[in-house]
Amino acid sequence: MYSQINVKSNIKDYCVSFVTLEDINELTDEDCHLVIIDRNVANYFPRLSCGSAIIVDTSEELKTWEGLQIIFDQLISKKVNTLTKLIVIGGGVLQDAAGFCASVFCRGIEYILVPTTLLSQIDSCVGGKTSINYGSKKNILGTFYPPTEILICEDFLYSLSNEDFFSGFGELFKFDLLRNRIKESCINNVIKDRQLILPYIHNCLEYKVSILEIDEFDKKERKYLNFGHTFGHAFEITSKYKLSHGYAVVIGCLIALSISKNILNYNNNDYAIALDLATKILKNTVKIEKDWFDYENLIECVKSDKKNTGCINMVLIKNEKPIVQKIEDYSIIDKALKEVYESI
Ligand SMILES: NC(=O)c1ccc[n+]([C@@H]2O[C@H](COP(=O)([O-])OP(=O)(O)OC[C@H]3O[C@@H](n4cnc5c(N)ncnc54)[C@H](O)[C@@H]3O)[C@@H](O)[C@H]2O)c1
Repeated sequence: MYSQINVKSNIKDYCVSFVTLEDINELTDEDCHLVIIDRNVANYFPRLSCGSAIIVDTSEELKTWEGLQIIFDQLISKKVNTLTKLIVIGGGVLQDAAGFCASVFCRGIEYILVPTTLLSQIDSCVGGKTSINYGSKKNILGTFYPPTEILICEDFLYSLSNEDFFSGFGELFKFDLLRNRIKESCINNVIKDRQLILPYIHNCLEYKVSILEIDEFDKKERKYLNFGHTFGHAFEITSKYKLSHGYAVVIGCLIALSISKNILNYNNNDYAIALDLATKILKNTVKIEKDWFDYENLIECVKSDKKNTGCINMVLIKNEKPIVQKIEDYSIIDKALKEVYESI
């Protein structure tokens, strides 16, 4: 079993533990706990005793006002109060939506997070961000509201479809690029054998926690974790969410890398390695459509992203380290979009 990771937070400290399905079962049996679970997880894990759980269908639709109403209505009908602790069992979508509800219901109720996708185990479970989409804007409403505890159980990873499993590689790919470790990436090995993933989950979480501890609220260093997300979020929108988050981040990372290569001398050889890994990951998702790369649409989405204020700031890589750079000459974006589309 892997060692516990302690997260120091300005809001409240919490920890990430590596547990078994039996441990989660024991927790779901407790009287003061109310389980909210992704329907797919509930179907795959009938052994989980969830009592009178709230079972929800998850898609980006859940991360909307209308989606939240489904959760709030159930919290009211199940007479949830400040003594209730929610146990949230699902991927990044349920985490974002249920975490948001927990943060505002009765001005805040406690929740334990059980992430069940690779993306949520390797990245989104730590950091305390909750969010929903509004109109065409991704993650525009949200709070910082960490869970009291995060429980990681690897059993969940083996029921994921290939598409949902490899989507988690988006954030792993991002971490490898940020840490200048693309040559030593584990991605090729884990593609061949999913069971090798656990030490990398532990390692990525430790890395993310080290950044959170110096910049929890996205003022400086945490912004670097946005690498690949400026265009990633835009691709989610232009593809009307056919491209799920992790794959959109992979393409967003390639755009940022191509620009870094063209204007900041990012190493050509490392770019080729990254491109090779990215194409292996992207094989597991839907066919990439040319429309999603429409320059005007993408620029509009990027400019109105919450991390931009009418101009375009991107995390790029210079001298093997991330930097935030304002892009003024958009022709370099156009060039990167063409280069990436033609090579994936
Ligand atoms: N809060 C953050 O810090 C943060 C960070 C990164 C991403 N996100 C958000 O996370 C979301 C993406 O999360 P995701 O990739 O986990 O997708 P997801 O939650 O939509 O899950 C993907 C699919 O897998 C299914 N599923 C979940 N667990 C399963 C299991 N164990 N077995 C079988 N099927 C299972 C779900 O029902 C769903 O169909 C995006 O909305 C993104 O914006 C949030």
